Amino acid sequence: MTIRAIVFDAYGTLYDVQSVRSLATELCGGKGELVTQLWRLKQLEYSWLRSLMGDYEDFWPVTRAALEFSLRSVGVEPDPSICDPLMHKYLSLDLHDEARQALDQMSEHKLAILSNGSPMMLDALVVSSGVADLFTDIISVDRAKAFKPDPACYALVEVALGVRPEEVLFVSSNGFDVAGAKRFGFRVAWIERAQGMLAPANSDVGPAEFYRLMRGGEEQLGHQADHRVARLTELAPLLARLGASS
Ligand code: 2OP
Repeated sequence: MTIRAIVFDAYGTLYDVQSVRSLATELCGGKGELVTQLWRLKQLEYSWLRSLMGDYEDFWPVTRAALEFSLRSVGVEPDPSICDPLMHKYLSLDLHDEARQALDQMSEHKLAILSNGSPMMLDALVVSSGVADLFTDIISVDRAKAFKPDPACYALVEVALGVRPEEVLFVSSNGFDVAGAKRFGFRVAWIERAQGMLAPANSDVGPAEFYRLMRGGEEQLGHQADHRVARLTELAPLLARLGASS
């Protein structure tokens, strides 16, 4: 089946969720690294819990609540003077180093984003990073009032782009998203950012390594990616091999 659209996850895949680290360190001192990792872990946990509870709120308040939890849990009062700048940074996260080059390499294809981000968050991200014009659509799960990996989120792609699931190459670095997208019926490429990293020597690991251990590996959910690449720039040669349409 010909690939007719390439659909990207946003946070962690195109955008570096770790790029809040320097601001978190500026605002929280020696606890900045811990806040950075807890925040992302809690943000996703809250998205899943809200989906399970049938109590959807968009990703902006979910992200804020996760930040406040993380700050409190490390003994930092979540004052606006700390939360507001960190939340603002979420609207202008850095693109991963190779993302712009990779998107340019694939610009003749139909490109889109499918993300947990709210429309406001995603619009701000693509504008601040200067890539808005490269995408046919920026699809927020808000249209389904659910979070990935709920199948209703992946179903938004066919409605938005008019392509069948088997005609989509879905690209994510998030293991849970890879499993969810594969279960739904997309062809999936996993950006395996932790590829080649060594296992820890003992339990004495820092927050960033703990995060990588939690989220860097392949999820054991019975739905594996079709393709594993280390960087986004490996996608264009992959598409050429697959004979994707432009
Ligand atoms: C996203 O939907 C999974 O947070 C990731 O962009």
